[in-house]
Amino acid sequence: MRSDYCGALNASYIDREVTLCGWVDRRRDHGGVIFIDLRDRGGIVQVVFDPDAKENFALADKVRGEYVLKVTGKVRARDAATVNPNMATGEIEVYGTALEILNEAETIPFPLSEHSSVGEDVRLKYRYLDLRRADMQKSLQFRSKVTIAIRNYLDENGFLDIETPILTRATPEGARDYLVPSRTHENKFFALPQSPQLFKQLLMVSGFDRYYQIAKCFRDEDLRADRQPEFTQIDIETSFMDEQGIMSITEGMIKKLFNDLLQVDLGEFPRMDYATAMAKYGSDKPDLRIPLELVDVKDLMGEVEFKVFSGPAQDPKGRVTALKVPGGNDKLTRKQIDDYTKFVGIYGAKGLAYIKVNDVTDVEEGLQSPIVKFLPNTVRKAILERLEAVNGDLIFFGADNATVVSEALGALRCKLGEDLNLYTCEWAPLWVVDFPMFEQGDDGSLQALHHPFTAPSCSPQELRDNPATALSRAYDMVLNGTELGGGSVRIHDQSMQQAVFDLLGIGSEEQREKFGFLLDALKYGAPPHGGLAFGLDRLIMLMTGASSIRDVIAFPKTQSAACVMTDAPGAVDAAQLRELHIRLRQKEQKEKAE
Ligand code: AMO
Ligand code: AMP
Repeated sequence: MRSDYCGALNASYIDREVTLCGWVDRRRDHGGVIFIDLRDRGGIVQVVFDPDAKENFALADKVRGEYVLKVTGKVRARDAATVNPNMATGEIEVYGTALEILNEAETIPFPLSEHSSVGEDVRLKYRYLDLRRADMQKSLQFRSKVTIAIRNYLDENGFLDIETPILTRATPEGARDYLVPSRTHENKFFALPQSPQLFKQLLMVSGFDRYYQIAKCFRDEDLRADRQPEFTQIDIETSFMDEQGIMSITEGMIKKLFNDLLQVDLGEFPRMDYATAMAKYGSDKPDLRIPLELVDVKDLMGEVEFKVFSGPAQDPKGRVTALKVPGGNDKLTRKQIDDYTKFVGIYGAKGLAYIKVNDVTDVEEGLQSPIVKFLPNTVRKAILERLEAVNGDLIFFGADNATVVSEALGALRCKLGEDLNLYTCEWAPLWVVDFPMFEQGDDGSLQALHHPFTAPSCSPQELRDNPATALSRAYDMVLNGTELGGGSVRIHDQSMQQAVFDLLGIGSEEQREKFGFLLDALKYGAPPHGGLAFGLDRLIMLMTGASSIRDVIAFPKTQSAACVMTDAPGAVDAAQLRELHIRLRQKEQKEKAE
């Protein structure tokens, strides 16, 4: 039907006849001349109808916003006075010679140009309209470019695209499963995959060597701006490659994407071990654009009078750390400090002590702080020296168990970076390596930090001897404080897998029941293998500068994991439930009450 996209037209088209199809973005009547801004996925162009062409003019007069039109006309230069430099097609317009109304439209529920004043729930209810907006069009078109570039890169590097099942068994990635009841197997359920983890390992046992998939994953977890219940991974697995090889090939992919699509050179990604990341940044996904660092002062606080500090300082699981904000004395008001105290409260911190450094040479009078009176001069001096404080600095303190302090001050560091615009660069990628194998619960029980198929960097015996301090062969790629992807070298040896299951307290019955097929596969010649998965939505979010992954997903779910457009999840009728051998508890209770 069409010869060109609206947005593709420019001065080189002048005097050419074009046929365009699209939606009416705006219609204006200027003293007998009708201007229609016609929009399609390529952009917007101005079409002019004047009264000389009677029939067309009468039709153009009927046109309203979001009508679907087919327009034929001649491209002509605009008068110098009417050139619109803010519009890609602003140098030209189309003089309409034929007009067909392909469809009419009722007044839409919200104006597409002023989306910011429209609530996200309305945008999501009418997502098909929201997606007509230029920035949504752009982000989905960009997403398509990224997936093609990924496929090309992986194809060129010998990776095979292989699909794995969606109706499957639980995959242990740490979130709740989405379950699907079986009609043909009474009282049994499929689980939707949290990732293709088990299948991709089996594909390595089958000899496919280099696998990838742009795979849908499902996790029933608390949602945030960078988490959806249904999201997409760029899932990768390789055989006969160690972590260096895997990191190098996947780093190459991300670098190429940034280079080709954003003309950004990310440089070589630095590597940081997990312990350093936690110590300096309080996070295993540090945002290295921000120059602030945590500095531990636990060793200085053991004997001070202030219980808030001395308690955690004497506790092996405690942490006492400081965060210096250079020049913070002037930059931060009392009110802001109170707000930051509330902010760290979200992470469980019970307070946020601080010292304002007025005169670094005078530890008696030169420090302003609600806590300094509890600290002997020697400690005051030692703090200032360790933090290399100068006049005008402000130092925050966190004291509690290590997890609370790291999370609270790690988050405060990022918030200060954003609020005070401390960023030193636009992009800061890195690899975090040398993760611990396990996390230890308060009851001493161990949980896998990644998943239970991650290989430790020691022997099974060493692992059994010192599980709490054992490191794994896992790695995460982090960009600007977001975990973009993560993976590991896997266990390919049955005795090692056994040791890990034993330490995790997964008994032999549970092992058989949950992963029997994987354990069997490890017996029949599993090659050394490893891989990684990137969050595609997060990658696109970062590359497009979106503030939420919802803005780069065509049909995302709301914060409460629902789709307000299709009204899913929805009720099902009794017959369907009967077929699935399911009776609803709530319904039963209601019936009883009646
Ligand atoms: P992991 O659980 O770290 O690893 O997931 C890999 C990447 O997927 C993205 N991601 C998410 N994105 C949006 N919404 C979510 N709810 C969500 N959860 C995770 C993140 C994350 O880095 N099987 C392993 C990978 C492997 O070992 O090869 C896995 O799934 O960007
Ligand atoms: P308080 O003794 O509760 O009045 O606290 C004195 C100062 O210490 C206040 O500035 C509090 O914000 C701060 N504070 C209290 N608990 C902690 C903590 N766990 N970590 C850091 N600062 C704290």
